[in-house]
Amino acid sequence: MKIRPAHPEDAAAVADLATQLGYPTTPEQAETRLRDLETRPESAVLAAEENGAVIGWIQVVGAHRVDSEPYAEIAALVVDVAHRGGGIGAELVAAADDWAVRHGFRTLRVRSNVVRERTHAFYERLGFARTKSQVIFARSTARPAGR
Ligand SMILES: CC(C)(COP(=O)(O)OP(=O)(O)OC[C@H]1O[C@@H](n2cnc3c(N)ncnc32)[C@H](O)[C@@H]1OP(=O)(O)O)[C@@H](O)C(=O)NCCC(=O)NCCS
Repeated sequence: MKIRPAHPEDAAAVADLATQLGYPTTPEQAETRLRDLETRPESAVLAAEENGAVIGWIQVVGAHRVDSEPYAEIAALVVDVAHRGGGIGAELVAAADDWAVRHGFRTLRVRSNVVRERTHAFYERLGFARTKSQVIFARSTARPAGR
């Protein structure tokens, strides 16, 4: 198994895994987003590849806020259901941590849905501590771009 940057050519596998994570994504959507992300230095999408197949991926992003020191955040993490429990998730987190260190971030955060109790144990084993619980709100923007 090796960990490397994800490319638009990985879109089909990345989309399948995003869908496993609970965010239904088509290969076309994944390809468009991976192409866009390649131009953004404050984000990395790293893929776990085994025997030529992408079996997991993680996205880490840098956050610059007025109210805190800059930090890196795991925006998404998923390992293929057939490969879970073999240490790949921990290696992807280690790769994200390495990216954060190389980009000067001193804190790595992750937000995880309250229902993912097994995943919470995974993060705690890797040294993450619970800081708070939040309610996340969202809406469409008032004026879509381009109108
Ligand atoms: C969480 C996840 C990325 C961990 O990857 P992994 O390769 O299975 O992790 P590791 O092998 O390094 O560590 C195994 C630990 O992960 C956790 N885990 C969470 N869900 C798991 C699952 N479905 N199968 C196996 N382990 C799981 C457990 O703590 C497990 O330890 P345990 O076997 O002692 O219970 C992976 O299980 C996954 O994709 N889960 C579904 C999506 C998800 O929750 N993503 C994180 C969103 S914040």
